[in-house]
Amino acid sequence: MMKENIYTEINFETLQNNLNEILINAIPVWRKNKSGKLVIIPVNMLEQYIGNSNLSESVFYIEEKWKDRIKIEDKNILQRRESKKDPGIANIPNEDSYLVKRKSFINMSTVERENNYEEIIDLLKNIDTTSSELSSERVTSLIEIIAEGYAISKTSFDEISQEGVNDTNHVQKVAKYTTELVENVLRIIENKKNTNIFMHELHEKSSGSTVDHMNNVFLIYSSFLYYYNSIFKVGRIARIRSEFKSKYKKYYNINFPEINAETLENVFKGGMSEIPEENLLDLSLGAFLHDIGKIDNINYFEGEEEYNRKIIMKHAPMSYNIIIKTREFTSDVALLSALHHEYYGNSAGYGLTKIIFPEKNKKFSAPRYCMSYNIGDLKSGLAIAYVPAKILEVVDVFSALIDKKRKYRPKEFTVEHALEIMQKDFIEDQFKLDPILFNIFVEFVTNHSIIDF
Ligand SMILES: [Fe+2]
Ligand SMILES: [Fe+2]
Repeated sequence: MMKENIYTEINFETLQNNLNEILINAIPVWRKNKSGKLVIIPVNMLEQYIGNSNLSESVFYIEEKWKDRIKIEDKNILQRRESKKDPGIANIPNEDSYLVKRKSFINMSTVERENNYEEIIDLLKNIDTTSSELSSERVTSLIEIIAEGYAISKTSFDEISQEGVNDTNHVQKVAKYTTELVENVLRIIENKKNTNIFMHELHEKSSGSTVDHMNNVFLIYSSFLYYYNSIFKVGRIARIRSEFKSKYKKYYNINFPEINAETLENVFKGGMSEIPEENLLDLSLGAFLHDIGKIDNINYFEGEEEYNRKIIMKHAPMSYNIIIKTREFTSDVALLSALHHEYYGNSAGYGLTKIIFPEKNKKFSAPRYCMSYNIGDLKSGLAIAYVPAKILEVVDVFSALIDKKRKYRPKEFTVEHALEIMQKDFIEDQFKLDPILFNIFVEFVTNHSIIDF
């Protein structure tokens, strides 16, 4: 007969963080079924359990004898941070599940949220900008902090869009902290003096809407990169792989028959992988600067003049030129701005890939992959698109749809409506955004937000 006391309860986070240990040691994991009886979770199902965010509140069990083999998580990141002696960002552990953090913000009171946000800003303020380069460890933590700050502001802003919640004082505080968050991140890169000159000029010329949009894209993009990398730790790729044939294959087969996409490895050159930590901050900054090219025609972009595709299209190469001119970023980062309206070669896209990397210089006559993490593969013609730029497209379109300050339409779209438009208009009707990246983004927004889909 089964004895109750030989089992130890573990939470979702513990299960996530110890997956490797559990798989390597073949530690049996149990759950309770509807009638309360313990049942074992088959090993091949574990990854799917971990990839299922709906189970984040679930309780799991392991036999007592295995307890010492795994690290039991019972505190959230905020409590753990308080216990750190050094408030420097380099020490914040990176293994926390995004979901757990997100949930903790939802359950907090507004005052607790404000205190947490203040703590984040203080952490940023304490970063020593005189030390030469930021280590990759610090950069990852920095991105994590940005993600946290953004998650808090998102939680509060989502709440006010719900009926009956209207704490103006709190919202103003959160908005202030978000501005401080961006300012402090910029302070950390203030050695990029030439970039700051352009940003300063933009601030002077803009009525605020372009700057707001760039700030938003920066916050969403960097948070999303952080989320994107985290999915590789929780077995999410296994689910994408198992869904590939039924859910995604058709899009690539219809739109890029020459690629013959049978597996995920045909879509992502080398398979899906994390974005290297050392690139996260620079890519986020590249995303931040993506529309800086609007600077020369700011009145057009912020005014109510007629649609003029020629003028609009100029901003992407212009952004690229400005970023390159600063000599403070690699060309990969600058290219992010040049390629943020390519839309997989759709006629609505700007077609700059073909101009920057002309056919005649290409080693391969036809692409073999949809996307690559390496810009060199666009140059040689091996891949159609650059993964960080495809991610930026998703973030940029989303940010534009939910933007309150666009004058060419009466009202912004809600988050749910924006995601519906993206799926229908930007994937089904016209193949512009990448469906796999988009679905990961939907998950990110859903987990980020208190809206139930
Ligand atoms: Fe743009
Ligand atoms: Fe934009």
